[in-house]
Amino acid sequence: MARCRWRRVLLCLCMPCCFLVFLYISLGVLIVMNMTSTAIQPAIKPSPSYFIAPVSSGNASVAHVPKTFWEQHVHDDAFWNKLQRSVDHHFNHILYPNMAKKASDRSNFSDYLLKETFSKIMSTEIMKNLEKLPMDIQDFITNMQRRDYPVLIQPRGVCGVRGTNEREPPLILLAIKSTELNYKNRKAIRETWGRAGWVQGQKVNSSNKELVGGYVRRVFLLGKESSADMDVDISDVLRMESQRHGDILQWDFKDTFFNITLKDVLFWSWFAHHCDQARFILKGDDDVFVNTPKLIAYLHHQFKKPEVSNSMEDFMMGEVIMAAQPNRDKRSKYFIPPGFYKGFYPMYAGGGGVVYSGLLARRLLNISRTVHLFPIDDVYVGMCMVLLNAHPLHHPAFLTFDRSEQEEDELCSYHTILLVHKRSPKQLVRLWAHIKKTQEQCQDVPLRDTKKTVAASAN
Ligand SMILES: *[C@@H]1O[C@H](CO)[C@@H](O)[C@H](O)[C@H]1NC(C)=O
Ligand SMILES: *[C@@H]1O[C@H](CO)[C@@H](O)[C@H](O)[C@H]1NC(C)=O
Ligand SMILES: *[C@@H]1O[C@H](CO)[C@@H](O)[C@H](O)[C@H]1NC(C)=O
Ligand SMILES: *[C@@H]1O[C@H](CO)[C@@H](O)[C@H](O)[C@H]1NC(C)=O
Ligand SMILES: *[C@@H]1O[C@H](CO)[C@@H](O)[C@H](O)[C@H]1NC(C)=O
Repeated sequence: MARCRWRRVLLCLCMPCCFLVFLYISLGVLIVMNMTSTAIQPAIKPSPSYFIAPVSSGNASVAHVPKTFWEQHVHDDAFWNKLQRSVDHHFNHILYPNMAKKASDRSNFSDYLLKETFSKIMSTEIMKNLEKLPMDIQDFITNMQRRDYPVLIQPRGVCGVRGTNEREPPLILLAIKSTELNYKNRKAIRETWGRAGWVQGQKVNSSNKELVGGYVRRVFLLGKESSADMDVDISDVLRMESQRHGDILQWDFKDTFFNITLKDVLFWSWFAHHCDQARFILKGDDDVFVNTPKLIAYLHHQFKKPEVSNSMEDFMMGEVIMAAQPNRDKRSKYFIPPGFYKGFYPMYAGGGGVVYSGLLARRLLNISRTVHLFPIDDVYVGMCMVLLNAHPLHHPAFLTFDRSEQEEDELCSYHTILLVHKRSPKQLVRLWAHIKKTQEQCQDVPLRDTKKTVAASAN
């Protein structure tokens, strides 16, 4: 009897113990399952990883990598860094989350502030060091507070030249940086990949059955050739070209390499006023080749994906360069002296050719009012992107640096790319004929998707 009672007592004591142990085990299993499922789930917005570019000086590997592009500038004393820092106090929500002004307070105040900070910095010791900088940087500095250059020529219709009988809003506006003298490039682009009107998309891979297409518009972005460098004034010729084609957008500033950033900010402003229907913009140089039919199909599919159409406000795609350093080689056209700028560049998409949404263009216009102009245009766009918390997407089918000759020999190689840089007008015509001719044979060739390591360029 006694033994029996003891057994019952033991049972009563053990039951809750066993239950507890079971509970712990199940809880443990649940937690582990949860952890693995969050680990597998893709991050919706990957935080940008910073890659240290290998540089010749050899000490970059020990450089401190800041959390964001903006944090690295807090102590630097170069001209641009100082100038921007005084504006950042008012607007940079990354550095000063509590003080940054809202977009609605921005437009009037920032124009004034940009000018004020500029004259304050100019009156300090920087002024004395100014003449040590190269001439083109000095020239940039003396003009960098100005961005309200008037339009000289613009397209007749809204949103660039259009095709006939458009039945829906344009899918893409091709906005191509050109110069007065590059008439041949414009002619080749008009006749080949840059034709306005309906473009039938081409399959981006063999599993795509749906036939898609979209309307394309086109505009060329130009400054003015300086009359001192020229024997004749070619503005009349350009006006005739504009009357004939209706795709010229020209502003009254000198068309130099360090002024190209003006083509971004002035284009955004023109776009916001004249072109609110275009979904995408291709911004590129007049020496790129674009596989327009593939690009159209690609964007069409992107636009249909729910996760992409939700993030259209952030959409930018191209060849993404991370944590590049300023070029310090005096012979390079990208040369930026340490007296002007110190620090890494932000993550940016190579300016030879990049695609972004019309929504993003409008946000870039807004935020650019709080960022002093920078002489390298794609780097400037990258700086604005960081402030918008938008990150450009890298696509290996954008080749804004050159590709190897060997690849060019393969029959279908141009069907695997969306954009390639540095092609002459003659090559554009030849390549366009080539992709038309090989369309049937190469129709199932997928786009390049090799996991290419992101380029580190000191540009
Ligand atoms: C690299 O850094 C070390 C210590 O910080 C310094 O002694 C050395 O001179 C630097 N080398 C170069 C090439 O700048
Ligand atoms: C741009 O800023 C203005 C006010 O400055 C605001 O009304 C507008 O909504 C902003 N647009 C975008 C696209 O952020
Ligand atoms: C900017 O200021 C001008 C005059 O001070 C005013 O007419 C205009 O409405 C202001 N614009 C904005 C967006 O606040
Ligand atoms: C083919 O393209 C479609 C549309 O972009 C895409 O959804 C699909 O994943 C692609 N398939 C392959 C095998 O790449
Ligand atoms: C940019 O354009 C302005 C206006 O034409 C000109 O005064 C300035 O010299 C140009 N800047 C550079 C760096 O060429």
